[in-house]
Amino acid sequence: MNTNHTGTINSIVEEFQADRSRLMDIALAVQHRFGHISRESAKAISVKLGIHPVEIEDMVSFYAFLDQEPRGRNRIRLSNTPISLMNGARDVARAFEDALDLKLGETSSDFEFTLEWTSDVGMADQEPAALINDMILTGLTPKDVPGIVAALRSLDDKNSLPPFPPKAAHAALMPKAIVHPSLIQAGPLLSGPLDPAAGIKAALSMMPEKVIEEVTASKLRGRGGAGFPTGMKWRLTRKSAGEEHYVLCNADEGEPGTFKDRMLLAEFPDLVFDGMTIAGYALGSKQGIIYLRGEYAYLWEPLQAALRTRRNQGLLGTHICGHPGFDFDIRIQLGAGAYICGEESALIESLEGKRGAPRDRPPFPTEHGYLQEPSAVDNVETYVCAARIMEKGAAWFAGYGTKQSAGTKLMCVSGDCARPGVYEVPFGITLNELLDMCGAPPDTAYVQMSGPSGQAVAPKDFGRRIAYEDLSTGGSTMIFGQQRDVLDVALQFANFFVDESCGWCTPCRVGTTLLKQGMEKIIHGRASLADVSATEALANTVARMSRCGLGQTAPNPILTTMRNFPEAYEARVVPESFSPLTALDDALREAIEVQGREPVEV
Ligand SMILES: Cc1cc2nc3c(=O)[nH]c(=O)nc-3n(C[C@H](O)[C@H](O)[C@H](O)COP(=O)(O)O)c2cc1C
Ligand code: SF4
Repeated sequence: MNTNHTGTINSIVEEFQADRSRLMDIALAVQHRFGHISRESAKAISVKLGIHPVEIEDMVSFYAFLDQEPRGRNRIRLSNTPISLMNGARDVARAFEDALDLKLGETSSDFEFTLEWTSDVGMADQEPAALINDMILTGLTPKDVPGIVAALRSLDDKNSLPPFPPKAAHAALMPKAIVHPSLIQAGPLLSGPLDPAAGIKAALSMMPEKVIEEVTASKLRGRGGAGFPTGMKWRLTRKSAGEEHYVLCNADEGEPGTFKDRMLLAEFPDLVFDGMTIAGYALGSKQGIIYLRGEYAYLWEPLQAALRTRRNQGLLGTHICGHPGFDFDIRIQLGAGAYICGEESALIESLEGKRGAPRDRPPFPTEHGYLQEPSAVDNVETYVCAARIMEKGAAWFAGYGTKQSAGTKLMCVSGDCARPGVYEVPFGITLNELLDMCGAPPDTAYVQMSGPSGQAVAPKDFGRRIAYEDLSTGGSTMIFGQQRDVLDVALQFANFFVDESCGWCTPCRVGTTLLKQGMEKIIHGRASLADVSATEALANTVARMSRCGLGQTAPNPILTTMRNFPEAYEARVVPESFSPLTALDDALREAIEVQGREPVEV
């Protein structure tokens, strides 16, 4: 490695005060500057940080957006969620393959392009979408592809990637590089005048303990999926002893079909920052961190600008709103493409610059979180609710929704409907009502609630209520019409979990692959009823034995489709006979091609 290279790496590491816990930022900066993190780069970083190079290689190998080998300067990642695929993503992919003369998964010999699928880019209301470097493209059709490729070729500065949002000159070249507003229907949470400081000022007029009491009285429950009472989490964090307390905002939003947090950060950033600042006051914290998924890098600049404005307005920094002794600031940590980092303890590991592997619990983050200090991890929407609760009062919030589910919920609607987007609805409305709002067809075949980790809901259950006590949800609502194949979608979700398992525990690492193979066998008409039962038994084992929420919920698409759509499985099964898990011809295809010999029938 030449001296220039080492010098650049040294200055990147120094930019982060040679702080080991900022390894994620360092790695992202090196990746951005050199296009990958070579062995030599890892060595140079390790020397500067005083740690073993293996620690860095181990961390880098974990994340999809960090590469150990050189890849294309233009990294084209096409979203392959079921919603994207049913909106034509396969045709878009073929058009890219033709335009680049590359197959998916390949890098061009001049290292200008890498073309690949990715799990989800948070644009389910605007699919097919792609992530090209840090740039989001939406509503793609095959016709757009030659223009995109020509534009990328014309941006040939070897040391800089195309910016996003595109500068004026690039915008003309790249008309699909746009994220459309996603909010379709605002309710009490998101309508009315928005005074950035109103919630903070109300909180500062009370003692911190009283703020927590108010949040508790509002009956706010976490909007990230699990529904843990927010007031209780804040109380536990506040009372835990530590040198520092941290306010962490979970903006990882990796569940396919979810995009409300992206919408809030893009369209209501001040409400998110208000909520975090209020939490900072309530918990006695000086530091908030937003963990922003790597796919949302395009929000980096606007969010930094919003933070700067707030510092200028005295809403962040020292003596916030003139309150002596209340000092609090927020920084943004970009992720690097790992769904598991949405799990709160994996998120904390990732924030500390490590692999995003979940921690054993207890202890919970409220006691030992970021840097082993007490930390509250809350979802973006939860902070927005907290801001409005302080502004308008606990009773106002608790006045909406049901007994166990106070307030409203942001629902992310995508798939077969006329108006995909975010709908703010009071908890307690039925799924049928939501389907009417978004213009879903009257003969909707089924709805996948809460993403792949949720459940496939059949029409007989469309009268169920959206609430923690009935249809509990993080917000993802994927609608599938009669023309869709329920088992094909379940297989795509099975694939998603194979890709996203962190590999730490065997039931999940091996189990997700076996479940995928089981589903393939069923779909390809090679499975008997006994095979279906074996797949179900395996799914139950994976759910029971896995170490964290990812593995525990990974079998849900299979288990809920087996329960709600038995006829789809029965239609595919064949009479009892031996049939191997994989199709032998397919498994041997590569060997046959290499040998140039067809197998002999015996
Ligand atoms: C695999 C997995 C992924 C998760 N992804 C997210 C996520 O993207 N955003 C989120 O807020 N919570 C996510 N969670 C839930 C978090 O662990 C945690 O419960 C949540 O951030 C707490 O915030 P809340 O109380 O405001 O809901 C995920 C959990 C698991 C098991
Ligand atoms: S369940 Fe899956 S994601 Fe969770 S620790 Fe085990 S391997 Fe990792």
